[in-house]
Amino acid sequence: MSDTISTLLDENRVFPPTEAFSAAANMSNPDIYDHAASDPESFWEGWAGALHWYKKWDSVLEWNRPYAKWFLGGKLNACYNCVDRHALGPRAVKRAIIFEGEPGDIREISYMELLDEVSKIANGLLNLGIRKGDRVCIYMPMIPELAMTMLACARIGAVHSVVFGGFSADSLHERINDAQAKLVVTADGGWRRGHIVPLKATVDEALDMGCPSVEHVLMYRRVGLPGNTINKIPVPDYNVGKWEPIRDIDWNEHILPLSTDCPCEEMDSEDMMFILYTSGSTGKPKGIVHTTGGYMTGVLATTRWVFDLKEEDVFFCTADCGWITGHSYVVYGPMANGATVVMYEGALDMPQKDRLWRIIDRHRATILYTAPTAIRTFMKWGAEWPKKCRLDSLRLLGSVGEPINPEAWIWYHEHIGKEVCPIVDTWWQTETGAIMITPLPGITKTKPGSATRPFPGISATILDEQGRDLMPQHLMDVKEAKWLHSGGKRPSIGGYLAITRPWPSMTRGIYGDPERFVNTYWTRFKDAYFPGDGAKADEDGYFWLLGRVDDVMLVSGHNISTMEVESALVDHPAVAEAAVIGKKHEVKGQAISAFVIIRAQFKQHDGLIEELKAHVAKKIGALARPDDVIITAELPKTRSGKIMRRLLRDVAEGRALGDTTTLADPAVVSALRDKYESMEG
Ligand code: PRX
Repeated sequence: MSDTISTLLDENRVFPPTEAFSAAANMSNPDIYDHAASDPESFWEGWAGALHWYKKWDSVLEWNRPYAKWFLGGKLNACYNCVDRHALGPRAVKRAIIFEGEPGDIREISYMELLDEVSKIANGLLNLGIRKGDRVCIYMPMIPELAMTMLACARIGAVHSVVFGGFSADSLHERINDAQAKLVVTADGGWRRGHIVPLKATVDEALDMGCPSVEHVLMYRRVGLPGNTINKIPVPDYNVGKWEPIRDIDWNEHILPLSTDCPCEEMDSEDMMFILYTSGSTGKPKGIVHTTGGYMTGVLATTRWVFDLKEEDVFFCTADCGWITGHSYVVYGPMANGATVVMYEGALDMPQKDRLWRIIDRHRATILYTAPTAIRTFMKWGAEWPKKCRLDSLRLLGSVGEPINPEAWIWYHEHIGKEVCPIVDTWWQTETGAIMITPLPGITKTKPGSATRPFPGISATILDEQGRDLMPQHLMDVKEAKWLHSGGKRPSIGGYLAITRPWPSMTRGIYGDPERFVNTYWTRFKDAYFPGDGAKADEDGYFWLLGRVDDVMLVSGHNISTMEVESALVDHPAVAEAAVIGKKHEVKGQAISAFVIIRAQFKQHDGLIEELKAHVAKKIGALARPDDVIITAELPKTRSGKIMRRLLRDVAEGRALGDTTTLADPAVVSALRDKYESMEG
């Protein structure tokens, strides 16, 4: 954390919005912050009013810490709000989705067509016995049918749980069982860097491990059999899986012929809308629950103001729908606003490293929302790639997923934004449902590396270890503020970000585990939600997010828990004990380093390290594959037996060792460091 702070704090450039941008912005009145703060409930009620409700709510908020209910008694349907009201109104022929597959196939889908497709899928789900409240697991590539299936679930009141297509059979198995899903919707495969990700075969493998709740698997044919061609590109060999009659259902037979008429289920504002799994600091993923009215209100509002969304915009969020960013800013937020979204299936360097910029030029995308890890990758590839493209359609850029380092911010600003597009660095989480700390592009002077201020109606602050509020004190205390701009030493205690009032799109809990919900977010501080991030504020009251303070790593902006990787490692017969840390990485933000002790009985062989890396990728998914595996005889532990990860981080990042006085055996660490250095050398 300390490195992040010192780089961020050397940063004192300020970028005010241009007059022209402010003049045309959806929100340009700075008084909105005070106005919303004076009565957040009526502020949010105003936004809820921008949705379609079958029945208006009776009351705005019921708050029994930690449980909030918003818009009580109101009835609405998320799919109706995202699809029907546009398709049946002036946006019928407006494009809802512009899709590019990795092989270059393009589809454009209007709101009217989207309504037909979603209704057919919804009817198909009903035919398979799916009813309101049933859980449906979606494991698909980033294709329109993924968004359509999510919307179809919302249409009939089924609860979707989207599992990112890069997750392994084990991870899928665990998520299916935790949610007790009745149906898995998948595809034969999806394209990724010229290969096919064998989704159906992975579903087969997951179900073979035992998923008693699953009655059917519905499979969309995205790639066809090997040898089939898409845009003249032949589908390479891949594992097509097996076909189990009765259990397995073919999309072409089961969905395509169905009626395009399917009524929307009238959902209570507090009815569960979806579950999305995210890693916590223990090995088991948390099923984050979102409900209908509050979530839709949060994503509708933030999309319109943070991205300054206008009718003619073409909105390109590069996140996969397997993550919350894809839920909120590919599907529900933009579509609640009737926007045109771009969806891209594959890798950013296929066929060349300018793919993203080509997509933007081809479809005249006006808003780009991506992650710092992607920006750093583009930086590494070089500015010559975007230079070959026009990028003149872009008018606003966004960043999400991890703290953006000022160098990446400036590169984004210069090479993609051509120094005119505002950048919104948006802090939020799966649990918060919608963006929480962010510039409003028509108002906020941005500073590279700062997510700036809480969205209107959101109350955030910074607390110290004891839960004391550092924010007002900090703003008044000149001495405290000075170090920020003097490049001087930071105070020794970093603060913890805390959200101090309920907000509509907040998670309603962890599926099936209320105790963990309370312990994770609501126990650390008495009166606030604790997101698990460290933060600092500057003299303007801007927030500088500093990364996780728990055992969650942010690898390419994705949460992976150290425990999850450790348990995957000890699952391998060679491993007796493992300790995992996230080490600083130029592109990924953090990379995984694993320290393992090999069982005495196990005969080590040459390929063992690679085997262990592959084992983790197989158990969790490729994104959890460690960069380094260091075999060691011992791990640094405190006298009470706790592994000192801080020291491992010091070793992995090549730093002078921190305080080792609580170590049971200091020699362990120096031995480890020698080993690490000899490996690197
Ligand atoms: O540590 C913060 C980081 O990502 C975490 C949330 O991860 P997830 O639930 O997967 O959602 C990611 C997309 C919203 C946060 O606790 N994070 C996300 N955005 C930022 C960020 N850290 C700093 N700045 C951001 N803009």
